[in-house]
Amino acid sequence: MLPCTPADRNEIYEIINDAAMAYKNVIPADCWREPYMPGEELNLQIAQGVEFWCYKEDGVILGVMGIQDRGDVTLIRHAYVRTSVRNKRIGSKLLAHLIGMTSKPILIGTWAAAKWAIEFYQKRGFHLVSEEEKNRLLAKYWTIPKRQVETSVVLASSDWISTSKKWRPIDRLILAL
Ligand SMILES: CC(C)(COP(=O)(O)OP(=O)(O)OC[C@H]1O[C@@H](n2cnc3c(N)ncnc32)[C@H](O)[C@@H]1OP(=O)(O)O)[C@@H](O)C(=O)NCCC(=O)NCCS
Repeated sequence: MLPCTPADRNEIYEIINDAAMAYKNVIPADCWREPYMPGEELNLQIAQGVEFWCYKEDGVILGVMGIQDRGDVTLIRHAYVRTSVRNKRIGSKLLAHLIGMTSKPILIGTWAAAKWAIEFYQKRGFHLVSEEEKNRLLAKYWTIPKRQVETSVVLASSDWISTSKKWRPIDRLILAL
């Protein structure tokens, strides 16, 4: 697992747009575009602090995954494995590596229609947050269009405690008074 360098940028672009073909005819048609992630959008993501990590074999990048520090949480962004080498544990290795890089709670956003991605994260310990919590988290930690918020889900690591849960002991105290 290696941190991506500026020299890897074009390969990252190629992998994202190859792997994202999985979304075609799955996510709402008005959310789909080709290429899925235009070059300027990728540059913006990197400029905004998404650090990409690469899984390489024989000098070729087979998968990428981004990590972004957002203060009290860490986001995992843009997880993509080349279509031709999917289901070979590359995604699992990248995810495990990024999980090991942070001690903060981790949040991951993905399309509600990408059932395989949701299952992939659920099997690795993440849980879906409620619709209300999703809307709050996407507004707080992400910069994405309103339509994408409506059609996305958020998964959280098990150490993520939602605001409502955080306040529960105080609620109990108030009730007791
Ligand atoms: C989601 C994604 C990143 C996962 O990467 P991956 O390398 O395919 O994932 P893995 O191989 O680690 O795990 C996928 C499954 O394949 C299984 N698998 C591993 N080796 C396998 C093999 N040789 N044959 C068949 N299945 C295998 C794994 O056990 C795992 O199944 P599980 O979830 O039931 O445990 C990748 O599928 C992808 O790029 N998808 C399209 C884009 C996308 O949805 N990205 C997520 C956006 S947040």
